[in-house]
Order: sequence, then structure tokens, then C-alpha cells
Amino acid sequence: MGQISRILIESSSDLVKMKTATKMYLSVILSTLCIMFYQYQLSRANFLTLQGNEVSGGINSMATIDDQNICNNLKKSAELASLPPLYIITPTYKRPEQLAEITRLGYTLKHVPNVLWLVIEDAAVPNGLVTRQLERIGVPFEHLIAPMPERFKKRVVKPRGVSNRNRGLAWIRKNATNGVFYFADDDNTYDLEIFNQMRYTKKVSMWPVGLVTKFGLSTPIVRNGTVSGFYDGWIGGRRYPVDMAGFAVNVNFFLKRPKAIMPYHAGYEEDKFLRSLGPLNNTEIELLASNCTEILTWHTQTKKNPLAQPLDLRKYNGTNLVNLQKLIV
Ligand SMILES: *[C@@H]1O[C@H](CO)[C@@H](O)[C@H](O)[C@H]1NC(C)=O
Ligand SMILES: *[C@@H]1O[C@H](CO)[C@@H](O)[C@H](O)[C@H]1NC(C)=O
Ligand SMILES: *[C@@H]1O[C@H](CO)[C@@H](O)[C@H](O)[C@H]1NC(C)=O
Ligand SMILES: *[C@@H]1O[C@H](CO)[C@@H](O)[C@H](O)[C@H]1NC(C)=O
Ligand SMILES: *[C@@H]1O[C@H](CO)[C@@H](O)[C@H](O)[C@H]1NC(C)=O
Repeated sequence: MGQISRILIESSSDLVKMKTATKMYLSVILSTLCIMFYQYQLSRANFLTLQGNEVSGGINSMATIDDQNICNNLKKSAELASLPPLYIITPTYKRPEQLAEITRLGYTLKHVPNVLWLVIEDAAVPNGLVTRQLERIGVPFEHLIAPMPERFKKRVVKPRGVSNRNRGLAWIRKNATNGVFYFADDDNTYDLEIFNQMRYTKKVSMWPVGLVTKFGLSTPIVRNGTVSGFYDGWIGGRRYPVDMAGFAVNVNFFLKRPKAIMPYHAGYEEDKFLRSLGPLNNTEIELLASNCTEILTWHTQTKKNPLAQPLDLRKYNGTNLVNLQKLIV
């Protein structure tokens, strides 16, 4: 792992872990420094103006504008660091589309402040190409692995992503103290607005997901401001027929439920995980996306690509193709 990104990651993980109180102090100190710095620059500007001739008024006012910008940026960083942290749990596995998906999601998350991206591969060893891409994108991350237990690999419908998500939950149990977590698969599209909204989840928040099921969406049905049921192309006896991309959970709420876990039950992962968070009354579910009247996430899905045919080295040895071959699956 690169030195700089290591430092970035460590410092941002640390920031994430800081208690709100500490962050408040930080904000106050930074703001005070800002004001002092600004006043010092003002007095210096006045002093220089009084001195007169050497420095023109134009340059002075330019300097003051620069100082103001520095102050505003400092204040802004302090404000962003004091937002409740967001933990994004992304399960992934090796396939032709993997790097492309990680890249797309990564650059979306790059616009989200105070975020820690838990990227967890269903693999025995981390894919070095994924690590390299995560470092390059520059969103604070933890790159973990969680292979699916052998006994589940024999099933016709494999419970994909469960070992990964439970690994992410284990990370949160051990290391997080506040904020909110969200399961963001790498094949979805996310409007940045949903991250702004889910960050303040007190227990469990929900919202509609587009491009999923035969109804074209999956959403809570909202009547008179509360959940009165669910609209989803497949109910299957589930209490919470929702998509993985359609809910977020408060970290403290989760920590108070030591048994909460995702089961290895294909099709019932969301339902049984949400049930394991009980007691949770439907009236307590926080409805985002303007009381579920907007679509801010989509289960886009990328077209499945066939595995690449191997390179004929007799023909192409000594060309760029040898290198490119290492990047594709
Ligand atoms: C908690 O965080 C530390 C530091 O990043 C990491 O080494 C450890 O594995 C994490 N714990 C869990 C259970 O993931
Ligand atoms: C809506 O909820 C309010 C307060 O919770 C209640 O007074 C009102 O009767 C409800 N309206 C309907 C149509 O259910
Ligand atoms: C959601 O609906 C409730 C109850 O009708 C209302 O009080 C609230 O203002 C609505 N929120 C939004 C964001 O529209
Ligand atoms: C959920 O809460 C509402 C209002 O507080 C209450 O009327 C209802 O009985 C509760 N439902 C369950 C299943 O506890
Ligand atoms: C390809 O070229 C390298 C040297 O450039 C050589 O070491 C290697 O044996 C060659 N491989 C094949 C399959 O021809």
C-alpha cells in the first residue's frame, strides 16, 4: 500500500473514530485559529497600507481574499469532519466487470464527506488490482476478504455477498462507535443526495430503489407518513420485502443488538437481517427521499461479460497485450 494513501486512510479512519465532542473542539479551535489568522492578516494589510508606497492596495486586497478562502476552506473541512461518519459496506468478487464497477462506485463516493469504504472481497486473498484501484481513487478504505464458506458454494442459488457483509458488520462492531452504515453493492447507481439523507438515520431508514423487480422498483408504501406495507415484485413471505440498496442503519442502534447478523439464505438476506435488528416497529422506520416519493438509487446491473479468451503468446509476446492480459478476467 502506498505511503501517502496509508497515511490518508489512517488519519481518516482516526477521524471517523473520534467522538463528536472531540470534533466539536476541533471545529472551535480551527474556527478560532481562522479568526486570529484573518485578524492578523487584516492588521498586516492596514499596516502595509499605512506604510504606503511599496505595496499597492490591489495586492493587499488580493492577499485578503486569499486568506479568506483559506479560512473558509479550513472551516469547511472542520464542518465536514464533524458530520456523523458513514460506513459503506461493499461486497465484491472477481469477475470481468469487477474493476470497472469498483471504479464507478469509488468516484461516486469521492463526493461523499466523512466516509469510510469497507470493500470486502469474496476471495481467499485480496486482488492486488482492486487494492491498487482503491489507492488510486483515494476514498478512505479498508480492503478486507471474506470467502464464502465451502458448504454454501454447492447450493444452486448461492447466498452471494453474505460472508462479505457480515465481515463488514464485524468491522463495525469492533471499530465504530457512531454514525450510520449502508450496504452499497458495486453494481448500483447512487444519487449523492441519498448519502446526505441517510447520514442522519436514528434507527433504520428506508427509501425506494429503481430498476428492480417486475414492478420496476421496490419501495415501502407510505400512507399518512408511515410505512403501511411494501411494493416489490416478489414478496415471498418476507416481512421486509426491500432491496439491499434501500435501507441504512444507525451504528449505535446496531451495536445494541449483538445478535444482528445476515443469514446465508438467498433471497431473504435483507428481510432476515432487518428482522434480526428487532424490536423495530414500522412506525419507527425513517422514510427518506421525500417520504419515498423520489428514486435516488437504482439497481443498474452491468451486462455480464464472458471470460476473456487467453492471449496467444506465440503471436503477441513482447507486446503491450502481455501487460493488458493481466488486467482482465
Ligand atoms: C478494526 O480495525 C483495525 C484497524 O483498522 C483492524 O486491524 C481490525 O481488523 C478491525 N477489526 C475487525 C473485527 O475488523
Ligand atoms: C394520520 O395520522 C394522524 C396522526 O398520526 C391521525 O390523526 C389521522 O387520523 C391519520 N389519518 C388517516 C387518514 O389515517
Ligand atoms: C413526510 O410526511 C410527514 C407526514 O405526512 C410530514 O410531516 C413530513 O413533513 C413529510 N416529510 C417530507 C420530507 O416530505
Ligand atoms: C407500533 O407502534 C404503534 C404506534 O406507537 C402501535 O400502535 C403499534 O401497536 C405498534 N406495533 C407493534 C407491532 O408493536
Ligand atoms: C516471452 O518473452 C520473454 C522475454 O521477453 C521470455 O522470457 C518468455 O519465455 C516468452 N514466453 C513465451 C511463451 O514465448
